[in-house]
Amino acid sequence: MPALILHVTGARPNFPKAAPVIAALRDHSVEQLLVHTGQHYDERMSEVFFRQLEIPEPDVNLGVGSGSHGAQTAAIMAGLEPLFAERRPDVVVVYGDVNSTVAAALVAAKMGIPVAHVEAGLRSFDMTMPEEINRLVTDRLSDVLLTTSVDAVAHLAREGVAPGSIHFVGNPMIDTLLRHRDKFDAAAARRDLGLEGDYLVATLHRPGNVDRPEDVAELVEAVHRVADQAQLVIPLHPRGRARLESAGFLDHPAIRVVEPLGYVEFLGLVRGSLAVITDSGGVQEETTVLGVPCLTLRPNTERPVTITDGTNRLVGRDTLPDAVAQVLATGPLQDWPVPPLWDGASGPRIARILAAASGVDR
Ligand code: UD1
Ligand code: UDP
Repeated sequence: MPALILHVTGARPNFPKAAPVIAALRDHSVEQLLVHTGQHYDERMSEVFFRQLEIPEPDVNLGVGSGSHGAQTAAIMAGLEPLFAERRPDVVVVYGDVNSTVAAALVAAKMGIPVAHVEAGLRSFDMTMPEEINRLVTDRLSDVLLTTSVDAVAHLAREGVAPGSIHFVGNPMIDTLLRHRDKFDAAAARRDLGLEGDYLVATLHRPGNVDRPEDVAELVEAVHRVADQAQLVIPLHPRGRARLESAGFLDHPAIRVVEPLGYVEFLGLVRGSLAVITDSGGVQEETTVLGVPCLTLRPNTERPVTITDGTNRLVGRDTLPDAVAQVLATGPLQDWPVPPLWDGASGPRIARILAAASGVDR
């Protein structure tokens, strides 16, 4: 019987990471089972990625939906445990740092099933972020740690992870970007949204920006000062949307809030923009490869390689308007570095390691 590799996905950023791994594993003699926890469920947060990225329909959807951290994580664990018991996968693969990631790692580790973590070792060193807790716990429980950057390898080594368990494989999210890059059509994005002239793009969803009323008030003020300088398109994540709207976010003629976009449409919009303002993890990486200046509205990043070897820069709500002025004055980047191994071949590297870990292709 071929070995069984079970992937657990659930939230928007998981899908572009899992797509190239699932595709590359087809070249190995393993069986694959794809689980969607249902953490994200809106068509625009989930299904559109399966369609555009040609990810197979999930074999199982746990349909857990939204909830508090405890309730959501527990519901995912309760859904996965009987499934793992029935299917007994040889490896469980988890992606990134969302609640679905840590829930799956906890269940698998307690059942003695090896865990492989794609995007291991990233650290913001900010324990107020739920993702940092998820990263630390997931890495501690993982047997195969697949990293996107050299700093991640160093973090894991410092935390005592055995060198043989750490694999620097590059960034599978960038495999997805490079594979679909030709479809990122800036002119179509403009047309679809009726945009004329230059524009900036923003995405905002971190609790540190959109959950507390004081932060939201500061954010609205900062974003309005940006919109004084250039038109701003914001495909807004459902988290915090109501809070931002009631704080007057939309009350500026140069701000255009739209629903979350499909992957291809979003990156088409980004490709044609002057710069991106974001608190997303993945968007910091994608702008780095596309050569679009990125202003990350956070006090820290778990992806410093996008600053040292990319187009990213950290800004505060107080410094954002001046940073935008600088970016606009500088104009488009002519050349920029790209981090090592962000080369479109991470999926096959990961697949080889997973196939070996599952007991085949040794
Ligand atoms: C989650 C991840 C975060 C990631 C983000 C990517 C955790 C702890 N957080 O944050 O790391 O950056 O996804 O997008 O896992 N909602 C909808 N429709 C959906 C999904 C969510 O309306 O399809 C709304 C619900 O009101 C929900 C809220 O968004 O309560 C937050 O969703 P949740 O999955 O808990 O966290 P995110 O903020 O999306
Ligand atoms: N994204 C998208 N449409 C949007 C906003 C983002 O397709 O309207 C994509 C983005 O290109 C990246 C992923 O969603 O591939 C990042 O997810 P998100 O920002 O929600 O999560 P994070 O990376 O912060 O965990």
